[in-house]
Amino acid sequence: MIMTPGVRRFALTTHVTASVGWLGAVVVFLAHAAIGLTNQNPQIVRGVYLVMEPAAWVALLPLAVAALLTGVVQSLGTTWGLFRHYWVVCKLLITAGATAILLIYMETFRQMAAVAADPRVDVAAVGNPSPALHAVLALAALLIATVLGICKPAGLTPYGRRIRGESLQPERRSAAATWLYATAGLAILAMLMLIAVHLTGHRPPSH
Ligand code: HEM
Repeated sequence: MIMTPGVRRFALTTHVTASVGWLGAVVVFLAHAAIGLTNQNPQIVRGVYLVMEPAAWVALLPLAVAALLTGVVQSLGTTWGLFRHYWVVCKLLITAGATAILLIYMETFRQMAAVAADPRVDVAAVGNPSPALHAVLALAALLIATVLGICKPAGLTPYGRRIRGESLQPERRSAAATWLYATAGLAILAMLMLIAVHLTGHRPPSH
């Protein structure tokens, strides 16, 4: 069902507020992560890792879910559709992937908070580079989603072309292939980076 112009403006305002708000929240997390790694005051260092988990529940996760849901509404309620344009499919993959990783990462936040709350653990063992690495990756992914949303680069998926009744011209096929390779490349790169982060042992120190 296509939205009326007024409803569309309202829905778009909600979508941009939620999704770009999520990006801003990630910047704040990156700032906290940097403070946790560099600050010399033990209370501040412990406090940073203690506050990350509740702050993620209150800000990061609701904004991530809101960005995903409002994005789907914005796609289905307009002629953009959910699977007709490569840029929309890319945003869906980026947002759904980042939200899923965040959900899994909530347990890591919980573990880091438990370590920070334990007075037997030396403050040197409380500092953990994992939140900074994850925040940088999330920031890059959300910046790509923002650029895609604003630039809306051309490129119809095979499904989008079928809806429009267009045949697949050779030059369009190569544009479609470029999009597909770019998306697959980005997804693989993100996965490799995450695997590397976990394999290099950037986990909360155990005690
Ligand atoms: C964190 C992730 C996201 C960010 C930062 C983001 C950002 C934006 C921005 C800034 C716009 C406004 C562009 C403009 O009209 O000039 C926009 C529009 C749009 N976004 Fe997103 N978005 C995100 C996730 C999603 C997702 C997951 C979907 C779909 C599954 C989506 C679908 C759309 C659509 C269809 C529009 C155009 C709406 C219209 O023309 O009325 N977005 N997005």
